Amino acid sequence: METALISRTADFVREKFLYEGSGHDWEHIRRVWQVARALVQDTPEANPLHTELGALLHDVADWKFHDGDEEAGPRAARAWLESQHAPESVIQAVETIIREVSFKGLSVPTPMSTIEGALVQDADRLDAIGAIGVARAFAYGGHKGRPLHDPTVPPVQHASFASYKQNVAPTINHFYEKLLHLRERLNTPAARRVAEQRHAFMETFLTQFLREWEGQDLG
Ligand code: ADP
Ligand code: NI
Repeated sequence: METALISRTADFVREKFLYEGSGHDWEHIRRVWQVARALVQDTPEANPLHTELGALLHDVADWKFHDGDEEAGPRAARAWLESQHAPESVIQAVETIIREVSFKGLSVPTPMSTIEGALVQDADRLDAIGAIGVARAFAYGGHKGRPLHDPTVPPVQHASFASYKQNVAPTINHFYEKLLHLRERLNTPAARRVAEQRHAFMETFLTQFLREWEGQDLG
C-alpha cells in the first residue's frame, strides 16, 4: 500500500513537471527524493512514508509560481493524496512539510517542526547548492527574465518573507542572498558533510565569474 502510493505519487509528479524550465522540474524532485531517501535511512526515528511523499510533493504548487500563495502547495498535495485515499494523518504530515520547507529570506528563521520535514528541507537545500545549484539559479533567473549580474545592484538581506518574495535582483545576487548561506542552515550532520564540497564549488565559480566579468583573467 505504502510503496504503491509512493510510486503513484512519483508518476503523478513526473508527468506534471517533466518539461518545466525554471529548475523546478521533475529531475529536481527526483534528486530531492533520492537524497531524502538516503537521509531517512540514517534516521530511524523518521517516518519514511511521510519523508518520501513530502520530498515528492514539496514543490507541487510552489508559491513562487502561484502569485505568492503559500497555501497552493499544501492544497494541491491534499487534493492529490485525498484522490488516492491516503489517511488523514499522512496528508497532514505532508502538508506541514510543504508549509515549512521553503527558504523565506536570510533573516527569517525556517525551523522544521518534524524530523521528516528537516530531512526534506536538507535534501531540497542540497539541490540548491553546488554545480546543480549554479545551473538551477541561472535557469530560474532566465525563466524570470533576469540579468546574470549587475555590479550596481547590491545584494539585500531580506528581513521578511514579503520582501524576499518581491525580489527581482540579478541572479548573481541570489548567491549572496541565499545560496552561500544554506550550508549554515542545514539540519543534519549528513547533509552538512555533503554541503562542504558543493559550497566550495560555488565559491570557486563566483571567484572565476567575477574575474571574467572584470576581464581580470586577460593577462
Ligand atoms: P525553496 O523553496 O527553498 O526556495 P526550491 O526547491 O523552490 O527551494 O528551489 C529554490 C531554487 O530556485 C533556488 O535555490 C534557485 O536555484 C532558484 N531561485 C529561487 N529564487 C531565485 C532567484 N531570485 N534568483 C535565482 N534563482 C532563484
Ligand atoms: Ni525544491
